[in-house]
Amino acid sequence: MGHYHGRIVSTCHTAKRLQRYGESVFATWSRLALKHGAVNLGQGFPDFDGPPEVIESAHRAMLDGHNQYAPMPGIQPLREAIAADFETTTGVQPCVDHDITVTSGCTEAIAASMLGLLNPGDEVIVFEPFYDSYPATIAMAGGVMKHVTTRPPDFGIDLEAVEDQITTRTRAILLNTPHNPTGHVATQEELRGLAALCQKHDLIAICDEVYDRMVFEGDHVSLASLPGMYERTITLRSLAKSFSLTGWKIGWSIAPAPLTDAIRAAHQFLTYAVSTPLQHGAVTALHMGDDYYTTLRQDYLHRRDLLCNGLAQVGLKVCRPAGTYFVMCDHTAFGHQSSESFCQHLVEQIGVAGIPPGSFYMNPEDGRTLVRFAFCKTDAVLEEAISRLSRLQHH
Ligand SMILES: Cc1ncc(COP(=O)(O)O)c(C=O)c1O
Repeated sequence: MGHYHGRIVSTCHTAKRLQRYGESVFATWSRLALKHGAVNLGQGFPDFDGPPEVIESAHRAMLDGHNQYAPMPGIQPLREAIAADFETTTGVQPCVDHDITVTSGCTEAIAASMLGLLNPGDEVIVFEPFYDSYPATIAMAGGVMKHVTTRPPDFGIDLEAVEDQITTRTRAILLNTPHNPTGHVATQEELRGLAALCQKHDLIAICDEVYDRMVFEGDHVSLASLPGMYERTITLRSLAKSFSLTGWKIGWSIAPAPLTDAIRAAHQFLTYAVSTPLQHGAVTALHMGDDYYTTLRQDYLHRRDLLCNGLAQVGLKVCRPAGTYFVMCDHTAFGHQSSESFCQHLVEQIGVAGIPPGSFYMNPEDGRTLVRFAFCKTDAVLEEAISRLSRLQHH
């Protein structure tokens, strides 16, 4: 049974493999934020615009007539810019023609990787809490998700637990670093351990690196840059976070030709090609240079500390993130039995929206004590949120 424009309907048309995923947690809490006039620190989209020169260049591309289908793998200048960016950040030079595919955001790259690679019953190991599209896309592909739980306060990777999950059906390990929602940045030791497991068990690594430019402590290192790893790794990145352009949905995959063939086998029928003028804008973005990334990092470091200090002052136990623009906090000092109940109280009574992370776990109970906030917001918005949160009462 469900509600449809006020009417009760009894039929569910959603395919069985997708029924359990329901409405995305971000849609639910953004709707509640709007309804209650709350400051929205839920969904991870910036409340400021991307670089004007990037936006202008997409605009110019439209006026210059770049409005028809782009080539299936992406326009040549963008694939060249992606290859150069990858070489600068990893030291590995990918083939512009055979290794790069431009996708509709990293989201499509994740789906195309799963649909292109997995045969029914193939297993993929993910770390939880996980980005919510991972289990859904693995399910769409008929794969089976195995998981390894990471725990506060540092959410590090237990390599023995990873090896315990490997079976003869394991096809890939899906690593997100810097990690949403925990802010964990994979250490050299973790990366070396994962690389060794991939090589020992002949696994593919799928690396979601959409937050690669937002690291505050330590350095982001791509698994693909470790010895022997490029040939078995798919690296996924996006314009969304690094250029505050989440609405453009421009992402890409970088992988050696045999893996790229698998991704393209799915991509050509999922979207075929991605918005042409926005791909021209993306070329301008990737040519912005180091100063742009330095400023981006400094700005986010400032926002991280502003929000984390405020949250700590209010009495939340803060797991200060080493990367990304999210922070996980323990809310148990406020006496709520679940993160849903705490977030409900926040959005209705305090006027701030966060995300209860239950849907990022196989067993939502594992996220019961936690709440996620996003700090991709202007200082004024973060300060308003902190001021409202100061009304929270300790239990
Ligand atoms: C870990 C992770 N992967 C992928 C995405 C989606 O990226 P895009 O907007 O490029 O589809 C997000 C967005 O929040 C994310 O947090």
